[in-house]
Amino acid sequence: MGVVLCLGGQWGDEGKGKIVDLLAESAQMVIRSQGGNNAGHTVVVGDHTFKFNLIPAGILHPSTVCVIGNGVVLDPRVLLSELEALEEQGANLDNLVISERAHMIMPYHPVLDRLEEGARGDDRLGTTFRGVGPAYSDKVRRIGFRVGDLQKPAFLEKKLRFVLPLKNQALVRLYDAQPFTVEAILEEYTDYARRLDRFIRDPYPLIQGALAEERRVVLEGAQGTMLDLDLGTYPYVTSSYPSAGGVLAGAGIGPRHVTRTIGVFKAYTTRVGYGPFPTELEGELGEYLRERGGEYGTTTGRARRVGWFDACVARYAVAVNGIDSLALTKLDVLDELETVRICTGYRSKGQPQDHPMANISHLKHLEPEFEELPGWRRSTRGARRREELPSEARAYLDRLSELLGAGVDWVSVGAGRDQTIEPAAW
Ligand code: IMP
Ligand code: MG
Repeated sequence: MGVVLCLGGQWGDEGKGKIVDLLAESAQMVIRSQGGNNAGHTVVVGDHTFKFNLIPAGILHPSTVCVIGNGVVLDPRVLLSELEALEEQGANLDNLVISERAHMIMPYHPVLDRLEEGARGDDRLGTTFRGVGPAYSDKVRRIGFRVGDLQKPAFLEKKLRFVLPLKNQALVRLYDAQPFTVEAILEEYTDYARRLDRFIRDPYPLIQGALAEERRVVLEGAQGTMLDLDLGTYPYVTSSYPSAGGVLAGAGIGPRHVTRTIGVFKAYTTRVGYGPFPTELEGELGEYLRERGGEYGTTTGRARRVGWFDACVARYAVAVNGIDSLALTKLDVLDELETVRICTGYRSKGQPQDHPMANISHLKHLEPEFEELPGWRRSTRGARRREELPSEARAYLDRLSELLGAGVDWVSVGAGRDQTIEPAAW
């Protein structure tokens, strides 16, 4: 039992939602602990397709306790619309807990996100414009608003009277934009307070209780290691820590409790937004994989950039997170290809390089070195056991396993819950 850490090993969108949903089946608790509604999950159950930005994937399992943890930044408006959609589908929300320590996205955050991106010009990051970066900046600056503040109206108002002038100054003086008023924000957030009240709690006793009883807890990472503030392709990253340390910190769980760290990887690579992407495919093949893989953002609808599997990035993710189990998703997207490629090394100015380095201008000019394997040219979508995969597909998995130094324990061959090859035990 114990804590299973499930996180993204690439640039996000690896299909963590589906894997967490499967893990949640036998878990008592699922915790989402960093990121905000920049993330997006799609979970398909029968004929229903659920899209989540904030709610942990485990919510579809009626007895699983779902926690939106301390390290999250959430937009109450977005959260409430997700809750409404779930209620309409008859989902049980009694087991949802929102940490009073989680931070809130305030109305000025998305506005500032957009304005700051505009000001960056050619160096823009391609953020999701959800206000996530500005909200985390305010948290670090100690002028953030926490979910628990909703339950303390006088405190909220006092803080807003100090913080809002700082924000308005930036809006008006730097960007010539409209200022916000304390009254309008208070009115809006008073309504959120009323509607979210029943979910807001301190999850500490609940989480520690689950750990003490050795219950199975799944930690659901958002985004991916290459978008991590410290470990990713800075500044082309998100504003949180999607790596193992960040996910644990955001939940308030120590590393001793982790019994398994699952790295979720797509069978190829995608990235949304700008920044280095050594194995990017432009042209027809990239277009083909984007269409076949449905590579358009859950949150923003943006077309994702597509490329071959980058084993240098993946090996780095395995190392920095201590990943001991791999989940490979969307294998079926490669089904029709004659050959498949894996990047096994780079060249930087002629010199060999085996991992993504810090220097962004070097990263942008890496030349990937590929290994080519035969494709399988048959559908894998019906496979439920590894033996049912074509031998070329198995060879691809074996090679990835060898390059990354961890076993491929989960393989996803379609969006449906059942389209998965699962390990016998975990
Ligand atoms: P932000 O998180 O909105 O500030 O965006 C910063 C970068 O992270 C952009 O390149 C986004 O496209 C990317 N990003 C943020 N969240 C996700 C995610 O959940 N999946 C994939 N990319 C993401
Ligand atoms: Mg996503």
